[in-house]
Parts: sequence; C-alpha cells; structure tokens
Amino acid sequence: MVTVFVFLGLSNSQELQIFLFAFFFVFYVGIVLGNLLIVIIVASDSHLHSPIYFLLANLSLIDLCLSSVTVPKMIADFFSERKVTSFKGCFAQIFLLHFFGGGELVILIAMAFDRYVVICKPLHYTTVMCGNVCVGLVAAAWGIGFLHSVSQLAFAVNLPFCDPNEVDSFYCDLPRVIKLTCTDTYRFDIMVIASSGVLTLCSFVLLIISYTIILVTIQRHPSDRSAKALSTLTAHITVVLLFFGPCIFIYVWPFPTKSLGKFLAAFYSVVTSLLNPIIYTLWNKDMKAAMRRLTK
Ligand SMILES: *[C@@H]1O[C@H](CO)[C@@H](O)[C@H](O)[C@H]1NC(C)=O
Repeated sequence: MVTVFVFLGLSNSQELQIFLFAFFFVFYVGIVLGNLLIVIIVASDSHLHSPIYFLLANLSLIDLCLSSVTVPKMIADFFSERKVTSFKGCFAQIFLLHFFGGGELVILIAMAFDRYVVICKPLHYTTVMCGNVCVGLVAAAWGIGFLHSVSQLAFAVNLPFCDPNEVDSFYCDLPRVIKLTCTDTYRFDIMVIASSGVLTLCSFVLLIISYTIILVTIQRHPSDRSAKALSTLTAHITVVLLFFGPCIFIYVWPFPTKSLGKFLAAFYSVVTSLLNPIIYTLWNKDMKAAMRRLTK
C-alpha cells in the first residue's frame, strides 16, 4: 500500500535549485501582492463596479488560489532532500487544482461573453449583463469547477497504487499520478484526455471563435467605444493564449516529454497567475486611475 508520494522535483543540481528557489519566490510574492491589489482596488473603487471588473477581481482571486495550490509547496521543497506528500495531500492537490482551474476557465469564458455583448450588442449591455447575470456567471464558475473536479477524482481515488511511488514532477496531477497505478492505465489516460483535455480544447476553440467575431465586428464598425475596447481585448486574448497553451499541452499531448513538461508546468503555475496583475495594473487606464485615487 502506498501512503506517501515522493516528488522528483525540477532538478537535482544544487546551484540550479537555489536559482529556481529565488526565481519562484519572487514570482510568488508578486502573484500574491498583485492579485490582492486587483481585488482590493475593484472592491474599494466605485468607478470599477461593473461586470467586467467584478469578473476580473474574481479571476485574480482564482489565480491566487490556483498558484497557491502548487507553488508554496514547490518553494518549500527546493531545500528538502526528500520531497514527500501524503496520499491525502496528493489527492487534495489534484482536487483543488481542477476546482480552481475549471473555475478560471469559466470566468475567462464569462469575460469573453461580456466583451462580446459590449461590442456586438452595445444597446443591450445593461440589460444582459445586469447584476444577477454577473453573480450567476461567477456562481457557475465555482459550481462547474467543483463538478469537474469531483468527476476527475471520483475514478482516481480508488485506483490501486504500488511502488515505485515517485511522481516525476513537483506537484500531484492526474496525468502523472495515474502512471503510478499497478493496473493498466490506458483507460484512465483516455479518461483524463477526454475530460480535462476536451474541456480545455472546447473552451479554447469557443474563446477563439468569440474573440474572432468581436475583432471582425470592430473592424467593420470602428468607433471610439470599440477603440477603447480593443485595448482590454488584447489583454484578454494574451491571457487566454498563455492560459490555454500550456494547459492543452499538459492534458492533451499524449506523450509528455519529461523535462519539458515539468518546466512548462512550473512556468505555467507562476506566469499565468502573474499575467493579470501585470497587464491590468500597467496598461489599463481605468485601473491606473483607480490606483491613483486609492493612493490619495
Ligand atoms: C466576484 O463577482 C461577484 C459577482 O459579480 C461580486 O459580487 C464579487 O464581489 C466578486 N468577487 C471579488 C473578489 O471581487
């Protein structure tokens, strides 16, 4: 019976570990401060009390939670000889990862929907995106995240695990953990690809289609309003591409190349979460104005 899992970590070299420690530590501090800043600004500034900023604040909150599932443990592990996690801890990590990840996905779709209504149906914006709809979208994000996560775990917890119990990564996630079961994992590989993979691929395609429609509409009917929208739109599209690129690689690509996959996952866990604070606090006019009001 396996009661603990051992992480092989990112690297064995001592020098590289120190470098990675410093790198991820700085990034994580940035993630915590940056995302909290967005939540505080949106909550405290009445100019930003509109659906898109509520969604943005929720996205920041989820980003913060998502990276907190993996990054602190990874940072703490850089200096420990044996990087161990309990069986329960491992599955808790998988659960939270898919819970927040699924939620993030729905929030990104909700933001695209909001931008679609603003640009393609501007006259209906206030009626379509009224308070209830916005609350409903956020509730849907948490609900779908939860359902997705439970469905992922339901079949994985009862799998038999035997030695070796070494996870070739720095956190527990399904594609790697199911490699450790004693039975034939082929079926489960398919399950993971089918659920997480198809979910991310479909959402990605959906988002690309909606942003294409939005961009085409802007091109056909240029206006002041759409010029302003274009700047936030670029930010959204950047976030979407950087969120889904590695995600699709991790869950859909059936032959994870060892080290590339690991570094991509590490990059993914810090960079995507830092993206929103960077993009919105540096480039968004309304956010910058709100920050100035806050500091006064
Ligand atoms: C998330 O969205 C809901 C619904 O719009 C909003 O009431 C709430 O304040 C948001 N959460 C944060 C942290 O901003």
